[in-house]
Amino acid sequence: MQPDSAIYRARRQRVLEEMGEGVMVIATAPEVPRNRDTHYPYRHDSYFYWLTGFNEPEAVVVLVGGKEPRHVLFCREKNEEREIWDGFRYGPAAAREIFAFDEAFACGTLDAELPGLLENQPTLAYIIGRDMAWDTRVMGWLNAVRGRARSGVHAPAHLVDARIWLDEMRLIKDDHELTLMRRAAEISGRAHGIAMRATRPGRHEYEVEAELLCAFRSGGAEAPAYTSIVASGANACVLHYVFNNQPLRDGDLLLIDAAAEFGSYAADITRTFPVNGRYSAAQKDAYELVLAAQAAAVAAVRPGAAWIAPHDAAVRVLTQGMVDLGLLAGEVDGLIESKAYERFYMHRTGHWLGLDVHDAGEYKIKGDWRPLQPGMTLTVEPGLYIRPADDVPEALWNIGIRIEDDVAVTGSGCEVLTTPPKTVAEIEAWMNG
Ligand code: GLY
Ligand code: MN
Ligand code: MN
Repeated sequence: MQPDSAIYRARRQRVLEEMGEGVMVIATAPEVPRNRDTHYPYRHDSYFYWLTGFNEPEAVVVLVGGKEPRHVLFCREKNEEREIWDGFRYGPAAAREIFAFDEAFACGTLDAELPGLLENQPTLAYIIGRDMAWDTRVMGWLNAVRGRARSGVHAPAHLVDARIWLDEMRLIKDDHELTLMRRAAEISGRAHGIAMRATRPGRHEYEVEAELLCAFRSGGAEAPAYTSIVASGANACVLHYVFNNQPLRDGDLLLIDAAAEFGSYAADITRTFPVNGRYSAAQKDAYELVLAAQAAAVAAVRPGAAWIAPHDAAVRVLTQGMVDLGLLAGEVDGLIESKAYERFYMHRTGHWLGLDVHDAGEYKIKGDWRPLQPGMTLTVEPGLYIRPADDVPEALWNIGIRIEDDVAVTGSGCEVLTTPPKTVAEIEAWMNG
């Protein structure tokens, strides 16, 4: 058995305890063609991986509940010919042993085996509606069981979205997950430091992106956790800018939102710094406002606080700052009430983080923002995006700033996982050091 397999088996055990009677079926992600006969780099499905630690394509986990619970894996068979071309595959016998399953079968037998596993079970749980072809296949198994009604078997009468259990469990990270997330954060933070030092007028956004990607991989990360945003000057006001093809100009800021995935866990970091290594007076004012908003938001992350508390804290600081900078006029309470701040701050202050950069988990329970709990991991990422307009002070035009860190809720507050240079003094010292 592989060392981590006990962790994954214990997770499956917990799912079975939550589900009680019934069968849960979770497939991993398919390989996706990029063009002609090449594929995008393979990435397993996060639900499947959370349950198994198994990263081959064409695999399905089946958890059979009830009196005789069973953990069943379907995966690719050994194939000498394919392994010469594409590399190692475990095959069912080794996968069963190494990944701590009770049974394992070749994936080609799925349609033959599944109806039997569903017989006389009250519930079938899977990820409903994510993939129409998979929905159709599941209905095929159900109908196959129904077709045996005259021999006395009955088919599951309840279809349940497996995410109602899996999302809640994925939301609270265990020590194994936190260790991987700290590593993803560390590699990503180091990459931001390298990117800052590689930035200077006359280079291009893509050259800085290349430094990030190099640092991710040489740090041992599998891949970027999402497409890197390397946005200079006005591009920083485009929230999902990914062209990364413009020259870096003296006097502009550079916003980098980029991070790595390590052990399948994402980090998510944004830093905004001057291309020439020194903030102008206007850039510094705007930057320190976002920094203060982020500090207020981080201070609001603690167990028992509502999910929305960090966002509310950031919005209050930002709105006051927008008034001080001459971007808005009026009373702060009224400007918050009317959402006037959304002209310059139009996104939320964070999201769950984990196997997916926008990770699984509900944000409200029965209509109320859920309370934060130890083990939850989230981003804290206020921003300020100022497009040119007649009623905006010209010195602030085209300034786009976001500061994003990753935090884990602890018993008393939070642990900040990401630590690349952040204050004006730290960034200027780092870039000019
Ligand atoms: N990088 C994606 C996000 O910050 O949400
Ligand atoms: Mn984020
Ligand atoms: Mn981000």
